[in-house]
Amino acid sequence: MELDWKNLGFNIMSTDYNVRCVFRNGKWGELEVSSDETIPIHIGATCLHYGQESFEGLKAFTGADGKIRLFRHDENAKRMQTSARGILLAEVPVSLFMEAVEKVILLNKKFVPPYGTGASLYIRPLLFGSGPEVGVRPAKEYTFLVFVMPVGPYFKTGFKPVNMMICRDHDRAAPMGTGHLKVGGNYAASMSSILEAHEKGYATAIYLDSRERKYIDECGPANFFGIKGNTYVTPRSNSILPSITNMSLQTLAENMGMKVEKRPVPLEELAEFDEAGACGTAAVITPIHKVFDPGKDVTYTYGDASNPGPVITKLYETLTGIQKGDLEDPFGWTKILD
Ligand code: PLP
Ligand code: COI
Repeated sequence: MELDWKNLGFNIMSTDYNVRCVFRNGKWGELEVSSDETIPIHIGATCLHYGQESFEGLKAFTGADGKIRLFRHDENAKRMQTSARGILLAEVPVSLFMEAVEKVILLNKKFVPPYGTGASLYIRPLLFGSGPEVGVRPAKEYTFLVFVMPVGPYFKTGFKPVNMMICRDHDRAAPMGTGHLKVGGNYAASMSSILEAHEKGYATAIYLDSRERKYIDECGPANFFGIKGNTYVTPRSNSILPSITNMSLQTLAENMGMKVEKRPVPLEELAEFDEAGACGTAAVITPIHKVFDPGKDVTYTYGDASNPGPVITKLYETLTGIQKGDLEDPFGWTKILD
């Protein structure tokens, strides 16, 4: 398989197989392998009309030993269950989720980017109401499917600082809404502000808490964190996605002897960080160089435009080192697939 592994972006790409399973009459059926990239769907399906849909995102990597390593897929399985409970989808058992993810990777082995290319296999599990309803109520039938594609960095620059813009005129989530769930509606709500940020030359939009607009929520499709001396600071908020990458970085920071603070982060605190970053499966760690706030017409700046700061660099190297198997995995985060 000859792909230009080193120059992959974060784009949709066809691979050989996906796996699927249907929940009908109160139970999950058999996991099926398909090479069809389309799904036949009832025109009244609740996912189409009422956004009854959840997705996940996780990655697999090839190590120097040529083995495929999958990162924390049990956590994605649990988070999809939380999303399912939130919008009344049928829950996918953790074991079925993990089996489906492992199976689809092995079926598409030739698409797992080789070691040293900087690319990885992005895995996209999807769960949606496929049964029809016209009243606003949950479907009786659900479809769970998983597909994969090789990807490069989400933000084109990769591990290079980017500039972001605070979003002052839109919210992606309500204070007691669905921001903590990985459901499609949140992403639809974020598109106009992300596009506006792009058009103004920024990598993405940073959302503020929608109750008071006083605290940092998150950065487009990634969580925010700041480094202040020996402290790792990241927002606690009911309307942001609990990021598995962020959770892992908090553990790594503690392991490196840093203090971790998960608490509301006032906007003004942006002036106090030595380094700032966005983190997520797709974003990995994306260092932030500048944050522009159009509301106050101020710009907060971190480090220089081309080099990530020292703490962020250490966190990045440790996280990606564990993911690829270059570093020991003392936390049991990776699973080797045979
Ligand atoms: N926040 C949002 C809104 C996201 O879509 C994602 C991506 O999944 C994240 C944060 C990062 O979460 P994770 O590290 O689990 O990928
Ligand atoms: C991920 O990081 O996996 C995500 O799901 C972000 C995505 C919305 C591009």
